[in-house]
Amino acid sequence: MAVHDMQQVELPSLPHWETTPDDLKAAIREIKPALRARIAASGRSVEEVFAVLEARIFDAVTEIEAARARGEEIWPAIDYADIEAGTVSAGQLDKLRRRGCLVVRGHFPHEQARAWDAAVVDYVERNRFFENYRGPGDDFFGSVGSKPEIYPIYWSTAQMEARQSERMATVQSLLNSLWQYDSEGVQWFDPDRDSLYPDRIRRRPPGSNSGGLGTHLDPGTLDLWMTEAYQKAFRHLFDGTIESYNPYDAAYRTAGPTYPGSTMCSAFRTFQGWTALSDMDHDQGVLHTVPIPEAMGYLMLRPLLSDVPEDDMCGVTTNQVFPASEKWHSLLLRAISGIPDVRAGDSVWWHCDMIHSVAPVHDQKGWGNVMYIPAAPWCPRNEAYAASVRDAFADGSSPSDFPAEHYERDWSGRFLPEQLNHIGRRGLGLS
Ligand SMILES: [Fe+2]
Repeated sequence: MAVHDMQQVELPSLPHWETTPDDLKAAIREIKPALRARIAASGRSVEEVFAVLEARIFDAVTEIEAARARGEEIWPAIDYADIEAGTVSAGQLDKLRRRGCLVVRGHFPHEQARAWDAAVVDYVERNRFFENYRGPGDDFFGSVGSKPEIYPIYWSTAQMEARQSERMATVQSLLNSLWQYDSEGVQWFDPDRDSLYPDRIRRRPPGSNSGGLGTHLDPGTLDLWMTEAYQKAFRHLFDGTIESYNPYDAAYRTAGPTYPGSTMCSAFRTFQGWTALSDMDHDQGVLHTVPIPEAMGYLMLRPLLSDVPEDDMCGVTTNQVFPASEKWHSLLLRAISGIPDVRAGDSVWWHCDMIHSVAPVHDQKGWGNVMYIPAAPWCPRNEAYAASVRDAFADGSSPSDFPAEHYERDWSGRFLPEQLNHIGRRGLGLS
């Protein structure tokens, strides 16, 4: 049957849970056969559909392995100057789209980034952060010792200057424009307006030992299979049109609910990202990704195969990160690739669905300092979250996606409303 003929077939509808199911195992036992039945009604078995995607991913994995064997850098790198001037080549854009990750060289001047790093130190020291630090507010980024690596700090001048800078907006627009954000008569997001998603800072000192973070992904957990909006967002995986699956399709991704959890992000991010505030070598406990955006489709279909227990989604459950494992995803993990050496002022980006990890490090050389700043374009979901961000900004609270630690409420030197420029105001929904 040709792909376009399948649209004519009436496919069985899916059960859905708009909030976390009370009985997770029961919900999994209900959704799996329903997804299989929907795929089967389209004329192909789950195994056939999975094989189509697996072949596509196998090609990407072997291409990456061959490039690595030739000594090529896997992560694309683009100079900020080319992004600003509009002179990024078609070849560079193609590699960015295929790999779904990017280093922006010289996103900010080196001295600017070093000054921001020093300003963060001044901000936390003058407000006696280390004396008052009460330990990790969550255990996701558990840190060893009394000094944190992850600072639950959101409202420093350095962070806000970077978030509302023209340079940040320029890069976010380029990354957003890789997505298909206009379809079915809906503009799903505005690629040229960011919502300034406030996140934390990491400062990892020389000599650090860190166990790193295992391979995982961040966009959701069981909600990815179980809410109506995500079922529509991933419709091509489940309706016999796997050939049309596009990891950059924003349709139905920007308004639906997500299941709460300590690792949840309320915002829709096209790309996650951070800006380096120190030079970091590639072998000092840095970020790795599986640089294949389509791998998300593999992760979504894999639990439907018959070798996975009927009440198991390859280990995915609520309130924990979505794991990618050697047991179920060994093909994908062959492609895992670390960032190259980066300098203070470079920024690093990866597609929001992408598998990533942080390598362990022993006796780290140099600092490992970053500000987490993603691309979170204006859309219904981000507009709703921006309301709580405005409140948090107004009184220096921790944003509602993060533990309620509120260190900055009575701090001096916080970024002030009168320091907002037009990008900052529109990002907070103030203009
Ligand atoms: Fe993550």
